[in-house]
Amino acid sequence: MCGIVGYLGNENAREIIIKGLHRLEYRGYDSAGIALSGEGDGTLHIFKDKGRVAHLEEISGIDFVSHQGIGHTRWATHGVPNQVNSHPHDSEDGRFFIVHNGVIENYKELKNQYLDGRNFKSDTDTEVIAYLIEKFSEKLTVEEAIRKTMSLLEGSYALAIIDRTEKNKMYAAKNKSPLLIGLSDNGIIVGSDVMALVGFSKEYIPLDDHSFVKIEGNTVAIYDIIGKEMQYEVKAIDVDYLNIEKGEYAHFMLKEINEQPSVIRQIIGRYFDGEKVTLNGEVKKAIKESNRLYIIAAGTSMNAGAIGRELFEKMAGIPCEVHIASEFAYNMPLLSKRPLFIFISQSGETADSRAVLVNIKAKGYRSLTITNVKTSTLAREADHFVEIHAGPEIAVASTKAYTAQIAILAILAYTLSDQHINLRKELSKLAISMENVIDKKEYIEELVREKLTKRNCFYIGRGIDYYACLESSLKLKEISYIQTEGFAAGELKHGTIALIEEGTPVIAIISQRKINHNTRSNLQEVKSRGAATIVISTKAVHETTDQIVLDDVYELFSPILTVVPTQLIAYYAALQRGYDIDKPRNLAKSVTVE
Ligand code: G6P
Repeated sequence: MCGIVGYLGNENAREIIIKGLHRLEYRGYDSAGIALSGEGDGTLHIFKDKGRVAHLEEISGIDFVSHQGIGHTRWATHGVPNQVNSHPHDSEDGRFFIVHNGVIENYKELKNQYLDGRNFKSDTDTEVIAYLIEKFSEKLTVEEAIRKTMSLLEGSYALAIIDRTEKNKMYAAKNKSPLLIGLSDNGIIVGSDVMALVGFSKEYIPLDDHSFVKIEGNTVAIYDIIGKEMQYEVKAIDVDYLNIEKGEYAHFMLKEINEQPSVIRQIIGRYFDGEKVTLNGEVKKAIKESNRLYIIAAGTSMNAGAIGRELFEKMAGIPCEVHIASEFAYNMPLLSKRPLFIFISQSGETADSRAVLVNIKAKGYRSLTITNVKTSTLAREADHFVEIHAGPEIAVASTKAYTAQIAILAILAYTLSDQHINLRKELSKLAISMENVIDKKEYIEELVREKLTKRNCFYIGRGIDYYACLESSLKLKEISYIQTEGFAAGELKHGTIALIEEGTPVIAIISQRKINHNTRSNLQEVKSRGAATIVISTKAVHETTDQIVLDDVYELFSPILTVVPTQLIAYYAALQRGYDIDKPRNLAKSVTVE
């Protein structure tokens, strides 16, 4: 993963880069670094260390204004997070400095073939890039040396490169990992994501794979790998700056949980004209023309996809499968005659999903991306895309994107159904019901303190409640590190019930009439073995002893509501344990490596 930022211009490079790195920290945060050109010719100041960008800010003080620099926030792949493995990395002679996001799969082969006997300082795959540029620049121009290096690299890279001897230039290159160029009268910024550009640029250029970028002064030229100049598109940045600040909230996650009702209303505003859905006709046509939908996603988005399958099959009668992107990419099942691939991704950058997109595009299949980031790779590269309008989601643990994704899937399924419900009304009802449960957050905090006292936990449910359990358990384990499993309630007794001990927390989600009694029987089984149970139910099926009783909503949409108390359960479990809620250990929000 990792986030990169580079700057060349007449403003303060350190300030711009550090600000950008803070905004990119969701991509990884185990170490950070910056290289800034100094006052004299050829001087460069490097600061890097294990730890967060805030730490880098402390250690990178300089008493002059630098106008050229590159920075990095890391999610370790090759080499433990320590000072030496932190980026920027330099070439053996210290002339070229690079920051890298991605993975070079053939770095060992390249070392053996081209760099035998060289003295490497780190355990990273990145260093080989700097060394190759140095080697090739002995006989070629710097531009040719970088492009030659690019032609040898297998894997993914977004690179920002500085040549210590050129104060007025910066280079960038991209394959698979995302990279954008931000434009302004005061300089050029390169960044992994639009977030790094906000506040500095109003316009940006999204780069295609195999692009090589030369920035000189305030001009940008983009070439392909053989040096042919490429045409590019300039796009406007329309991210609301205020939306990426925490405001009155202690954590982004809490802010984002609270924003969910307004996100649902935003979606209604975007996709309805009165009671009528105003969805792009081409999207509807693409779904209609396929005879089976294949939802491809990872993590939370895949959990939303599981609900999507229920919606497409039960509301619209369209067969649908849900697949883990990283599995599907290299182990494709037999496909139907006219498949449509639906990619669900908050970031639109998940490398596992993109690997599938590249693969199915090569086979000529159609695709649709459902994402929160309209500038993202998956949005750009699929045949169609639908935006979920959740607004920037900063906390690593996804909340509002999940509920927004389901709302969009509901709209898609509805447009292809007999439309016997009033969808607008049902979604509005959901927004109010979400507010009602968010209002109970202090009570949920107490419940968590009382019941979630162990190292493990189970969520159980049946049917669509089971799919909500998968997301609920992912949330809890991601940020509280409590080992949690989402289980089909009836399956627990076939083995896993052996793990239930005195006080083991078991949380049941019950929102469906037809399975109410079955799930309650399964609850009795765990209760008899000592489990500390919590029941989340809806009014229609509730019993007086249930701890969290939610409003009744259209049954197929219930996960949009039932997941909200479980997000709060996860939040308070992490808060009570004193963990870093917005940046949980080992995780990153945008996973751009396979
Ligand atoms: C990472 C994040 C998860 C997220 C998953 C898929 O693993 O930590 O929170 O659900 O990626 O991300 P996407 O952007 O494709 O929805």
